[in-house]
Amino acid sequence: MRAALYKQLGSIENMVVEDLPSPTEKKGEVVVSVKAIGIAFPDVLLVQGKYQVKFDPPFSPGFEFSGIVKAVGEGVDAFKPGDAVMGRGYQCCREEVAVDAKQVWKIPASMNFGVAAGFGMNYGTTYHALKDRGQLKAGETLLVLGASGGVGIAAVELGKLMGAKVIACASTQDKLDTCKRVGADELINYETQDLRAEIKRITGGKGVDVCYDPVGDKFADPCVRSMAWGGRYLVIGFAAGEIPKIPLNLALLKGCALVGVFWGDFSRREPELAYRNTEELIRLIAMGKLKPYISATYPLEHTGQALADLLTRKVQGKVVVTTGR
Ligand SMILES: NC(=O)c1ccc[n+]([C@@H]2O[C@H](COP(=O)([O-])OP(=O)(O)OC[C@H]3O[C@@H](n4cnc5c(N)ncnc54)[C@H](OP(=O)(O)O)[C@@H]3O)[C@@H](O)[C@H]2O)c1
Repeated sequence: MRAALYKQLGSIENMVVEDLPSPTEKKGEVVVSVKAIGIAFPDVLLVQGKYQVKFDPPFSPGFEFSGIVKAVGEGVDAFKPGDAVMGRGYQCCREEVAVDAKQVWKIPASMNFGVAAGFGMNYGTTYHALKDRGQLKAGETLLVLGASGGVGIAAVELGKLMGAKVIACASTQDKLDTCKRVGADELINYETQDLRAEIKRITGGKGVDVCYDPVGDKFADPCVRSMAWGGRYLVIGFAAGEIPKIPLNLALLKGCALVGVFWGDFSRREPELAYRNTEELIRLIAMGKLKPYISATYPLEHTGQALADLLTRKVQGKVVVTTGR
């Protein structure tokens, strides 16, 4: 089976595709013939050696996949060969993966393999962030940074579904148009407009109840200063590079909470809630209440290009790699 491999850390261009032996099913595992793999910013960080998780080269990127069950290991009753599934694991950018059956979900016939491979991380992170960590309530105001990106667009969609008024921030008109299409109520171009002044204008001086921040850097400070009394500032990531340093007196003055969100560890530490969250998301997508947006699909050979396009802010929504299987 073919695998997209990095033989050294650092440059995202230096990817090769090579043949590896097929994995065999161990106790409690499912072997899946992979159709599609979801690519996200953490893959870029992984290859650059900047992510929390590290592998010795050679390794494949890819934390999520969809495909058809090829074999099941001892003790696995929930799946059988031929089932259409999605799942999570490490090193998924390859034609076959062996993963823990507890990290696999059946997908409905109406869900295509691209969507199935690509929604888990972005919508899983965001559902956990807004529901479990942010306690977002209907009628509240939600500010989303990087709102046309992978987790950002999920926050716009889920925020609207949860009844919030959503203010989407992005760097270009084209990206803001995408946010509008998926339901954003208000738009701010945070590269050309004064972020703090715009939030003040839109909220009538009250500030935002929940801020969803996957971008960090220079945008974090004006957003913390724009929190409403009792607000929740959700720390998702630092796509713009710098990890911001926030003066803690702002949390005191605003009576607001700075809330960390770490979906990977949440899934490991609270597996039952994480599994239920994913089941709920699958239901919402099957019902047509969420429509994950895939802006680009790349063949396995061009996995490096998918990572490069993420790094250079060229993509919107989700990007997916397909194996051709
Ligand atoms: N906490 C968790 O559990 C968790 C889970 C998943 C992802 N994350 C993190 O969330 C962040 C976003 O991930 P993603 O997969 O949604 O990425 P993405 O699809 O690339 O979106 C990131 C967005 O950030 C904005 N951005 C601003 N400056 C940027 C820069 N210098 N380089 C790249 N993007 C920049 C871009 O929008 P504009 O061009 O409009 O500014 C882009 O749309 C990453 O830091 C990732 O590690 C965290």
